Amino acid sequence: MPHCTRGGAVAATSGRGPSVAALLGWASRELAACGIPSPAREARALLTLACFGDRPAPSSRLSPFLRGRFRRLVAARGRGVPLPLLEGRTGFLDFELKVWPGVLIPRPETEGLAELAIRIALGLPPNPRALDLGTGTGALACALARARPDLLVLAVDIDRRALACARWNVAALGLESRVELRRSHWFSQVPERFHLIVSNPPYVARHEFSALPHEVRRFEARQALDGGERGLEALVHIVQKAPERLFPGGWLLLELAPGQGEDLIRFAQATRCLVETRVEKDLAGKERYFIGRCR
Ligand SMILES: C[S@@+](CC[C@H](N)C(=O)[O-])C[C@H]1O[C@@H](n2cnc3c(N)ncnc32)[C@H](O)[C@@H]1O
Repeated sequence: MPHCTRGGAVAATSGRGPSVAALLGWASRELAACGIPSPAREARALLTLACFGDRPAPSSRLSPFLRGRFRRLVAARGRGVPLPLLEGRTGFLDFELKVWPGVLIPRPETEGLAELAIRIALGLPPNPRALDLGTGTGALACALARARPDLLVLAVDIDRRALACARWNVAALGLESRVELRRSHWFSQVPERFHLIVSNPPYVARHEFSALPHEVRRFEARQALDGGERGLEALVHIVQKAPERLFPGGWLLLELAPGQGEDLIRFAQATRCLVETRVEKDLAGKERYFIGRCR
């Protein structure tokens, strides 16, 4: 989406300013002109945000203060700032996460990875241990810890901002006693072994980076997305090192991009330690998840 700098005026229908319905109509048109999908829905969400959670009636009027807030939010969204960043939060499975600028906003595909990981976690022996590599907001670590009360999770990231955001979410969800956060370059600070390792590492191929939507390229951390020349750098590193950190029979689950599965399975088989390797599809029918087990 191009950088959008519209500044259309909304007509005042009385001396008290335009009605909420007129403001919503204006905002929808502005957002549509900036290429925002579902502009009417997003306009309503921004209005609720501007009004601190209230949903004013269509015929009501906003105070100049709230109207100013609403206009600024619409302008920011028009420039491509993702809605979850404006709201400061996003939903993940059945819970809410705080999101911060520079920390990847969890995606629906990753909910699929979390569901697969939870299914496996529920079948593990008592007091199992899981590792979330590149935890970002802490989405996967929190989903796992919430799903199984005797599970201990170590969540690592190289990025201090991500760790701070994850720390916030872990505390807000009351999981401090079971989710440990640690700064680490993948396994470098992780000597322990685990029953389950899960990761959504950066996997965008360098040549595909420019094709990502403007709001992703401009507002999401490159470090969270850039997977090197073919997008496989982090994935291959994790597949090669994971067997040393898994208990026998332990599981490795990774998110990947369609088209990377076959290569990754080849790398996994070359380790001679990972067996039962396969790739599963996401809800959109695209190959998205690598699964393997430690011999
Ligand atoms: C695609 S994001 C995934 C975030 C989160 N797990 C999720 O699914 O929403 C990748 C994460 O890996 C982290 N990361 C990138 N390189 C890393 C490295 N060398 N070691 C550890 N974490 C890394 C990034 O900071 C980012 O938080």
